[in-house]
Amino acid sequence: MTTTLTLTRPDDWHLHFRDGDQLRGTVPATAQVFRRAIVMPNLTPPITTVALAQSYRQRILAQAPDQSLFEPLMVLYLTDATTRQQIIDAAASGIIYGAKLYPAGATTNSDSGVSDPAGIYPLYEELEKQNIPLLLHGEVTESEIDIFDREKVFIDRYLADIRNRFPALRIVFEHVTTADGVQFVQSHDRLTAATVTPQHLMMNRNDLLAGGIRPHNYCLPVLKRREHQLAIQQAVLSGDPRFFLGTDSAPHAQNKKEAACGCAGCYSAPAALPLYATFFEQHQALDRLESFASFFGPDFYQLPRNSDTVTLIRENWTIPSHAEVGGLTMVPWQAGVELPWRMA
Ligand code: NCD
Ligand code: ZN
Repeated sequence: MTTTLTLTRPDDWHLHFRDGDQLRGTVPATAQVFRRAIVMPNLTPPITTVALAQSYRQRILAQAPDQSLFEPLMVLYLTDATTRQQIIDAAASGIIYGAKLYPAGATTNSDSGVSDPAGIYPLYEELEKQNIPLLLHGEVTESEIDIFDREKVFIDRYLADIRNRFPALRIVFEHVTTADGVQFVQSHDRLTAATVTPQHLMMNRNDLLAGGIRPHNYCLPVLKRREHQLAIQQAVLSGDPRFFLGTDSAPHAQNKKEAACGCAGCYSAPAALPLYATFFEQHQALDRLESFASFFGPDFYQLPRNSDTVTLIRENWTIPSHAEVGGLTMVPWQAGVELPWRMA
């Protein structure tokens, strides 16, 4: 049996670092394993300009471990007030690798998001022209739409038309959670891709709701029924390059998760790569981990693949029950679970 597993150093194509003191915990947790990360811009206030992205990038780099070559890939947060010029500036900045569309109210810190995804076509046109990927939180927000249907309705109502009208625009369907999202990606060319989180690969809504409510498995888009989980698993296991690693690691303090109105987000960074490795091994597909984790993402983003490696060791390892992040206590996703792999 394989006792070590060495692969090209991976990147995380969807990550929340937060800000301030929390960076002391979140940046090392990611930079120890990943070379690059697409850094989500949903701070308060959100990262809506190049200047805000530049200073946030410096705050992140200041917390990277010594000798680390970690590179944060910054993202512009789209609002109703975003201008074409801001997108042109983002392209010229050399530090911005995507523009994130949060439908207003869809998730954590999305209040300044876009009120009508069909109302910002000039911005999509400019993104296409500047070759900046559009990163989508693909859910509608209307209260009358059932939360389990919000991804599919977003595809039908907005995404299909955006895809048709801007054929050269690179689009990432972030944290895909439904068979509908998987099929949408599969039915287009390589310019449409999706990130896949460990929780949407390894869990379905029973893991959230059956036998008691489990706030640490609550994230957005919410876990769906098992048939959707299976569609995501099959897409990833098939080796389709349009599906790649994006943890969506999103820390919230323990008391904000274990609350009457708990926050959405799973802090998966402390165990991310061993978690994905465990999933691939459970499906006899360990040989497909490297392309999912280390090749398909940079290929889509038109960046070089990393040239150094990381090593996993086959040794039982229990995910810590708590993690201290900038003076706050977090419960890592899958805390207390024993995995067959740990980082060397
Ligand atoms: C994310 C967060 O907390 O910032 N939460 C989550 O459940 N995934 C936001 C997001 O990506 O939706
Ligand atoms: Zn996210």
